[in-house]
Amino acid sequence: MKERLLELQTEALAKVEEASTLKDLQDIRVAYLGKKGPITEVLRGMGKLSKEERPVIGELANKVREAIASELDNKKEHLEAIELEKKLEAETIDVTLPGRPVQVGGPHLLTSIVEEIEDLFIGMGFEVREGPEVETDYYNFEALNLPKDHPARDMQDSFYITEELLMRTHTSPVQARTMGEYQGSQPVKMICPGKVYRRDTDDATHSHQFTQVEGLYVDKDVRMSDLKGVLNRFAKQLFGEEREIRLRPSFFPFTEPSVEMDISCKVCHGHGCSVCKGTGWIEILGGGMVHPRVLEMAGYDSNEYSGFAFGMGPERIAMLKYGVDDIRHFYTNDVRFLTQYHKAK
Ligand code: PHE
Repeated sequence: MKERLLELQTEALAKVEEASTLKDLQDIRVAYLGKKGPITEVLRGMGKLSKEERPVIGELANKVREAIASELDNKKEHLEAIELEKKLEAETIDVTLPGRPVQVGGPHLLTSIVEEIEDLFIGMGFEVREGPEVETDYYNFEALNLPKDHPARDMQDSFYITEELLMRTHTSPVQARTMGEYQGSQPVKMICPGKVYRRDTDDATHSHQFTQVEGLYVDKDVRMSDLKGVLNRFAKQLFGEEREIRLRPSFFPFTEPSVEMDISCKVCHGHGCSVCKGTGWIEILGGGMVHPRVLEMAGYDSNEYSGFAFGMGPERIAMLKYGVDDIRHFYTNDVRFLTQYHKAK
């Protein structure tokens, strides 16, 4: 029995020595140390041994088991190390290879323009405000001196939700909301960018949803010349110092007097060309002095306070600044269009 055990040990160790894969090792482990293996068999036959022999053989059998098991472990470690080495070699990274290009996004042209306009007005002491896109008839029209039967309501074809609720047709309701909040207690100097909605048929220059930036400055002694000064600075900073502005009389129910502002055409410098339709000027926004009734409705004493307001369309401004020929480009999100302006400014 003793010989048989030693024989098994020599045999098993030789096989371990020869083994070249982890699978071989597993097979040897099962074959020699498993429940059905020869060592277990030897131990089963121990009953036939004498009392003196039994512990000796028992001890030897355990030693043989341990010897085989420890060799298996050593070899396993060794084979694993080799395998890892091979894997590392196969996976070496060529650090000199150029990286794969990553497509990075950028701000939408409209976002950039709105931010540029915001920065410009923040620089002149205006705060940036927001208002709801679903607006009440009161703020969208009535508080802006447009009572229900006012013909000028037709100027803006509206999307009504109920009799009293609509998608705001302009950002001007934020004027009324802001002044209404202060109820004449303090000056207001704010701009409000946001989406507006009109029942227009979409084409190259019309969109049923577009963007506006509203401006409002109410204080004691605000004059038309202040409006002109602020807008002149705005136009020059955004379009170039060489640009001139002009104000033309116009009409809005919430401003009196009302104006429309043109900037000189950058193509012909005011001489007249196809871009400015021969006039030398391009219209970019509407504005005027806040109507006393609008001030009064919001709780401002129109004998004490006066103000100016204006509203502009950033799409139109971006179209003029970058020569975009179709307003729909802003909304169809063609990457070929969008990426052209990632570095714009
Ligand atoms: N709300 C006007 C429009 O949508 C623009 C405007 C704003 C005019 C403020 C005057 C003062 O056309």
